[in-house]
Amino acid sequence: MAILPSSTRSRAGVRWLLLAAFLGLSASFGYGQAKNSCLDCHSTLPDPFGVTQDKFSQDIHAQKGLTCVNCHGGDATSDDADQAMSRKAGWKGKIDRKQIPALCGSCHSDPAYIRGFNPSLRTDQLSQYLTSVHGKRLAGGDTKVAVCTDCHSVHDLRAPSDPRSTVNPVNVATTCSRCHADAAYMSSYKIPTNQFAEYSKSVHHDALAVRGDLSAPTCTTCHGNHGATPPGVASVANVCSTCHVFQSQLFDTSPHKEAFASAGLPGCVTCHSNHGILHPTDEFIGTGDKAVCTQCHTQGDAGYAAAGKIREQLAQLAVAIGNADQILGTAERSGMEVSQPKLDLTQARDALTKARVTIHSFNVDRVGADVKLGVAAAAKDYTAGQQALAERNYRRIGLAISLIAIALALIGLRLYIRQIES
Ligand code: HEC
Ligand code: HEC
Ligand code: HEC
Ligand code: HEC
Ligand code: HEC
Ligand code: HEC
Ligand code: HEC
Ligand code: HEC
Ligand code: HEC
Repeated sequence: MAILPSSTRSRAGVRWLLLAAFLGLSASFGYGQAKNSCLDCHSTLPDPFGVTQDKFSQDIHAQKGLTCVNCHGGDATSDDADQAMSRKAGWKGKIDRKQIPALCGSCHSDPAYIRGFNPSLRTDQLSQYLTSVHGKRLAGGDTKVAVCTDCHSVHDLRAPSDPRSTVNPVNVATTCSRCHADAAYMSSYKIPTNQFAEYSKSVHHDALAVRGDLSAPTCTTCHGNHGATPPGVASVANVCSTCHVFQSQLFDTSPHKEAFASAGLPGCVTCHSNHGILHPTDEFIGTGDKAVCTQCHTQGDAGYAAAGKIREQLAQLAVAIGNADQILGTAERSGMEVSQPKLDLTQARDALTKARVTIHSFNVDRVGADVKLGVAAAAKDYTAGQQALAERNYRRIGLAISLIAIALALIGLRLYIRQIES
């Protein structure tokens, strides 16, 4: 076998070695990807100019393959700052707050462009934003209002479905509160700054943030994500009906519908408030201290009388349920089988729940109809409890009689035995 001269062998080896080294290097330096000098340089800069790979990789735009130049322009192939950030290469310079909606909208209002990425993504954010109080004021030169990046953040902007997104339903209230709960920041405006504090103690916050019930509203559920309409009484105040359908239908048939409308009062919000909505109890209706009715009705008027009557009806049903519950409990503790009447008592409880909804008709007879059904059901269960207790007593007496009979028989037997013995 012919042996290659050693010089030739080593030359081929060096060539392979160089190629392998080059391939290794290109893999580790990422020559397969397009160069991004913006990120390379800016990841070394201090705030506010620093944008790290770590941060930017969280951004939905980076994840979809977009880079710095898609928003900022410029030449990302050049390591020279002047060349990379030259106007000739399309670099836009500092992005002013006033320009931000238009920048975001340049892609997000373009259905043809967005469809290429995600056919189900809406493209009306900018047009809606422009009709909001934020958008209108920005157009008028007020840069303290929210622009896209105040709500969405920038450079680590996540899709709303991401739990860490600033606009995820669970985080929205905190995002809005950064301005709306900051009395100093909002001091030049005439609106209150208590929305977040009030909302934080409401049933809605409790349901959403504490109990994880995503069907409960946060700020943007009522105000619109992009603020299609400012909170005029006629619009935002009507939002309750989208979830509380029965109360709304009843309210529409009630005497308050007309009366509130002609007084310029919103419907639900007049009694329940808008941000600090609490769980109402039966004391909320009637003529007592905690009743809402006495804010407008006074002794002698028809509303006052109705409030008192409805309160009495509710109390009557609550008492009937309480009594039935108590007697069935006693029967159960003394070993009687009352599971069926206990189950039947939910009928009466449901009637009470329904009556609390029917209140929104503000009609004594309509609430009375629910109450009547509930009272009848509770009475039936009370009777079942009475029967169980009577049965228990009957059995106890029966037991006592038979015990006495046995005792007497034993005594008789003893006497008889003695007699025989003697
Ligand atoms: C070699 C480093 C370097 C490169 C490459 C570079 N930048 Fe910069 N950039 C800077 C420095 C330093 C500043 C801040 C000082 C200044 O404005 O000159 C800056 C500022 C900026 C600003 C803020 C302007 C302002 O006034 O607020 C933006 C936006 C920006 N760069 C985007 C880019 C983009 C996009 C690219 C890539 C096309 C890029 N930069 C490439 C160094 C760099
Ligand atoms: C989705 C669009 C978008 C992308 C992508 C993007 N930016 Fe920005 N960037 C903005 C906007 C909008 C602002 C202005 C933010 C503000 O004022 O609130 C901004 C601001 C900046 C600033 C100025 C910060 C300051 O406070 O002056 C720098 C520097 C910057 N971006 C660099 C980068 C770099 C580097 C990349 C890529 C790693 C990048 N941006 C990617 C939209 C984007
Ligand atoms: C260069 C075009 C472009 C610009 C400019 C741009 N975006 Fe995007 N944005 C996209 C694309 C593409 C997606 C990915 C859509 C998808 O696949 O879901 C996206 C996704 C988003 C999403 C997530 C949508 C979802 O639910 O998936 C939000 C929120 C968003 N962008 C907000 C902004 C904001 C705010 C700005 C301005 C700071 C901005 N975008 C600027 C192109 C752009
Ligand atoms: C006042 C806060 C706020 C401002 C300002 C804002 N957004 Fe949003 N944005 C939201 C909220 C909240 C969501 C929805 C989150 C969800 O789906 O639960 C959202 C959702 C989005 C989405 C996802 C698709 C959708 O419509 O649900 C895009 C894209 C988007 N915004 C872009 C923008 C753009 C572009 C601007 C500026 C023109 C902007 N946003 C301004 C709060 C805001
Ligand atoms: C960057 C600060 C900022 C952020 C963040 C912000 N807002 Fe605002 N908002 C303002 C300012 C400033 C006004 C103007 C107040 C005025 O006109 O009385 C305003 C006005 C409003 C108004 C109209 C009030 C009125 O009747 O005049 C509503 C409603 C509103 N914001 C809701 C929200 C919601 C909901 C969020 C969160 C999704 C939010 N805002 C986030 C600053 C902000
Ligand atoms: C259950 C619905 C609902 C929720 C949730 C809600 N709002 Fe409101 N908000 C309203 C209504 C209704 C009004 C209008 C009151 C009116 O016009 O009678 C209002 C009014 C406002 C106003 C105008 C000023 C004022 O206080 O009257 C601002 C600002 C505002 N809300 C911000 C917020 C913020 C921030 C959040 C979240 C922390 C929030 N809202 C949550 C329904 C809601
Ligand atoms: C997005 C749907 C939604 C909207 C809009 C909404 N709510 Fe609610 N509401 C809920 C949910 C969910 C609960 C929690 C029910 C629970 O306690 O489990 C709730 C609870 C309540 C409660 C307490 C009920 C109870 O038994 O404790 C009242 C009162 C209430 N809402 C009134 C309103 C009013 C007034 C408005 C309008 C300003 C409104 N809601 C808007 C979904 C909504
Ligand atoms: C005139 C005052 C008043 C108005 C207006 C009003 N409510 Fe009520 N609401 C009450 C009272 C009183 C209760 C307490 C019922 C109870 O627990 O006894 C109540 C209870 C509730 C409850 C919890 C109990 C239940 O299941 O019904 C919800 C939810 C509710 N209201 C929603 C609404 C909605 C939505 C509107 C507007 C369509 C509205 N309310 C309008 C007085 C009012
Ligand atoms: C914000 C003021 C306001 C509150 C709160 C209020 N009402 Fe009224 N109510 C009115 C007005 C105004 C009318 C129509 C004029 C009238 O008949 O007094 C009315 C009418 C009525 C009527 C019809 C009276 C008739 O003439 O037939 C009844 C019944 C009634 N209210 C019950 C209630 C009950 C019950 C509550 C408490 C849950 C309540 N109202 C809370 C303002 C209010």
